[in-house]
Amino acid sequence: MTTTELGNLEARGSSTRAFVLHPVLPEDRNGAREPESCLEEAVGLAAAIEVEVAASRIVRTMRPRPATLFGSGAVEEVGAAIAAEEIGLVIVNHALTPIQQRNLERDWKAKVIDRTGLILEIFGKRARTREGQLQVELAALTYQRSRLVRSWTHLERQRGGFGFLGGPGESQIEMDRRLISDRIVKLKAELDEVRRTRGLHRKAREKVPYPVVALVGYTNAGKSTLFNRMAGADVFAKDLLFATLDPTMRSITLPSNRKIILSDTVGFISDLPHGLVEAFRATLEEVMAADIILHVRDVSHPDTGAQKADVEAVLRDMGIEAESDERVMEVLNKLDRLGEEDQSTLLRQARRTGGIAISALTGDGIDTLFNAIDRRMVAGREVVDFVLPPDDGAAMAWLYEKGEVLERDDQEEHIRLRVGLEPADLARFEGRFPYKAQLGPGQVSAREARQEGRQPWLP
Ligand code: GTP
Repeated sequence: MTTTELGNLEARGSSTRAFVLHPVLPEDRNGAREPESCLEEAVGLAAAIEVEVAASRIVRTMRPRPATLFGSGAVEEVGAAIAAEEIGLVIVNHALTPIQQRNLERDWKAKVIDRTGLILEIFGKRARTREGQLQVELAALTYQRSRLVRSWTHLERQRGGFGFLGGPGESQIEMDRRLISDRIVKLKAELDEVRRTRGLHRKAREKVPYPVVALVGYTNAGKSTLFNRMAGADVFAKDLLFATLDPTMRSITLPSNRKIILSDTVGFISDLPHGLVEAFRATLEEVMAADIILHVRDVSHPDTGAQKADVEAVLRDMGIEAESDERVMEVLNKLDRLGEEDQSTLLRQARRTGGIAISALTGDGIDTLFNAIDRRMVAGREVVDFVLPPDDGAAMAWLYEKGEVLERDDQEEHIRLRVGLEPADLARFEGRFPYKAQLGPGQVSAREARQEGRQPWLP
């Protein structure tokens, strides 16, 4: 695709006024989630693709029509609202068949995307690793292949999504089904190749010089608000070293002066459309390599328990047991939205379970959170001995910067350093320098020490 096309799309995307519809069909009536929460969630997702949500509505449909999903009355009503409000995009929070999508676009004279399209846009924006990008593109193409009734103008992944948001009147270039299928075959081969050669964990860690704290959470839990709050609280947030880092990553200095990288991730969503599960996981890969995982929860949401279970199920699929994995910390957000009594109950519960109650919006509890992260980092570290040749200044400097040097013994032939290091940093060191560390004599590993209830770095 040409830059002009891309420019147009982006310009359109940023100013698109959208109408978000949540259809309630007879078969959804027994669903556990309230239509109001579903609509609110869809509006939140729409905001994530940077459209302006001009209106939103629940549409109850007694008898879904194969041609348009909605009944003709609803189609007309929505059509009138679209014309009056100058809406360019309608987001239907439900799966649409290709025919329904095309018919609705004709009737409403606006672009229509369904829930799968919406989520693909979001994933497309957020995928960062090569595997994530390939996986999302594969899901997008598979989706698009069934939708050749409308245009698919660009196979290349582009900044900001997959271009499902192109405006009406855009020149319709029909992609041959064969071409898409060929591309899918190539993508699958490339994916296999990437997976074979990845060494993912190590790579992700080597790329970032400090321990990584990843934010995960159900969509709308407040991850981005917390991310900004934490990054904003840091005087070094504009550290030039990281100016080129991904916008969803920031370096932060904790109260102990320890530097960490804070990493925001795509929000978790229930009922992920079929075929997107793999793509979703691939966009979360950096979580698997994170040193600490903050599970941000909206405790003011009526479905907060179900949301927690959804997030933990995905983490479990990725090999992370939230209950027992010491990297996972629960952050109970939106404390300010609770009444006084509920606040005290929550605070009591947090003390019992080790969760941290905060309000990302008001900043309440953020200091406690910073301190808890600091403590967790210290508790997780190993005390190790390094024997280095005296002339390896680089290795020495690295250890002084990343670790805490507890003892130093300078001999003619070598220098022995006893250093407290996070396990991830230990792995980074061993990946970079040709020396192996040994657990200090009389020392136990951090994990063993915790089991025995003692501080690992004390003799
Ligand atoms: P996704 O990107 O969809 O995953 O959402 P997110 O988890 O990044 O949530 P985001 O930070 O965008 O916040 C969602 C909404 O909740 C926004 O309207 C925030 O202003 C609001 N919000 C976040 N934290 C708080 C909080 O502590 N209190 C209150 N009252 N609102 C909050």
